[in-house]
Amino acid sequence: MLDKVKDLHDEIDQYNISSPEQLEQFRMRFISRKGVITELFEQLKRVPQADRRAVGQELNGLKNLAQERFDRFSQVVDEQRSSASSTPPVDLTLPTIPNLTGTQHPLSLVRQRIIQIFERIGFNVADGPEIESDWYNFGALNFPDNHPARDMQDTFFVEKATSGETSSDMLLRTHTSNVQIRLMERQKPPIRSIMPGRVYRNETISARAHCMFHQVEGIYIDRNVGFKDLKDTLYHFVKEMFEPGTQIRFRPSYFPFTEPSAEIDISCQICGGKGCNICKHSGWVEIAGSGMVDPQVIANCGIDPEEYTGFAFGMGIERITQLKYVVNDLRLYTENDVRFLRQFEGL
Ligand code: PHE
Repeated sequence: MLDKVKDLHDEIDQYNISSPEQLEQFRMRFISRKGVITELFEQLKRVPQADRRAVGQELNGLKNLAQERFDRFSQVVDEQRSSASSTPPVDLTLPTIPNLTGTQHPLSLVRQRIIQIFERIGFNVADGPEIESDWYNFGALNFPDNHPARDMQDTFFVEKATSGETSSDMLLRTHTSNVQIRLMERQKPPIRSIMPGRVYRNETISARAHCMFHQVEGIYIDRNVGFKDLKDTLYHFVKEMFEPGTQIRFRPSYFPFTEPSAEIDISCQICGGKGCNICKHSGWVEIAGSGMVDPQVIANCGIDPEEYTGFAFGMGIERITQLKYVVNDLRLYTENDVRFLRQFEGL
């Protein structure tokens, strides 16, 4: 028995542990209830009475040695484990994960630019409802009852939610001129405002048409406002917005709410006026409608047309953006394709 104890003593002394698996083997062999030391304690009963005490002491010594080694080895294995997890390999030369930020939508960029140009010459920004009554969208603007723009083809009429009936009085505004009427009703001249916003027309969606687009309209009402002021203002806008050397022309036109009326063309930004698909080979593209506000419209809003005159204009933000950034398909604006949107990064 004492020989056995001595052998095990030597074995433990020589033991060396460098992994959790080895530690477990050690525990099974020497510490656990099924290990060799427990077995020797079992056998102690059969040792003759006279020797039992001495053998028991030896056995206890062996047990303590095994426990002491086990504690030390456990500590070593724990330290190895924690130092491995707290210092993961770091490669400081690796590139960082790119932080993707969004970009401004081209229509927002152009809207902001338009607003900036007009604000600098004394216009402020006005807003109004997109769901509008017939009066503010058409009636007050002198559209006769049978005007084709009121037709179902062009205008989205709004259904009454309760009955599902089509109410002929409410509609999605077809232009932001409704804000001009609301302004003139509320405010005494001088009025000098622009009104950016979303407008709706019942068109089939294609590269050249959309049922929703954006306008910026403007109005200036005061004493002695003349056609010259309209021309000066829009010349200034074109000069600020487009390439140097851009030509501008006023072409007589008709709108129910202005008299006289003019459409404004600029030399094509894409071909420089030589002729291309965008300008339909004419060298000119239309950018805005304009005119002197009809005295009847001024009177409709409770302002005396004998005392006050004014001009108004309206342009499509999509069109201006198309000319500035050569966007040839209107659908790109609403598809949220990042390959398109990224091209406006940093502008
Ligand atoms: N409201 C017109 C449109 O949407 C544009 C316009 C505004 C024309 C003001 C003349 C004066 O087409």
